[in-house]
Amino acid sequence: MRVFVDKCHHTKEEAYLFPEMEKSDIPDSRELITSLKNEHEEGRQYVSRIERAVSEKEEHRELPTLVENSRAYIQLLTLHIDKEENNLFPMADAYLSQVVQKDLLESFEAVETEIIGPGKHEEFHRWLHAMGEVYAKPR
Ligand SMILES: [Fe+2]
Repeated sequence: MRVFVDKCHHTKEEAYLFPEMEKSDIPDSRELITSLKNEHEEGRQYVSRIERAVSEKEEHRELPTLVENSRAYIQLLTLHIDKEENNLFPMADAYLSQVVQKDLLESFEAVETEIIGPGKHEEFHRWLHAMGEVYAKPR
């Protein structure tokens, strides 16, 4: 979660997409971007609490803390992704020029290779699908 969600996705938005949108002064974008940044921060707090809960020795693990924060994180990310896909990305697509979008894509790819590591994104996807097969099967 720290690498795939935070370093990979949030870095691309916070370091490149949000500043570019703010620079372009897109109508109604400021409030949306502020709320998305706040949600990133809220997500980091859930992940820290989850990390603390699982890093304890098994007999001291606070399972209610783990479950409570995991559920809250899932709920936060579900709404966050929906907000980005239905509001932020269409807005960016409509207002940012093709040249800017191409530059952003190059910056995103640099994040993948320089910060995350070549092939890591695909590795995370394979790993998440494998986890989904085990843990997200309908009962
Ligand atoms: Fe985000």
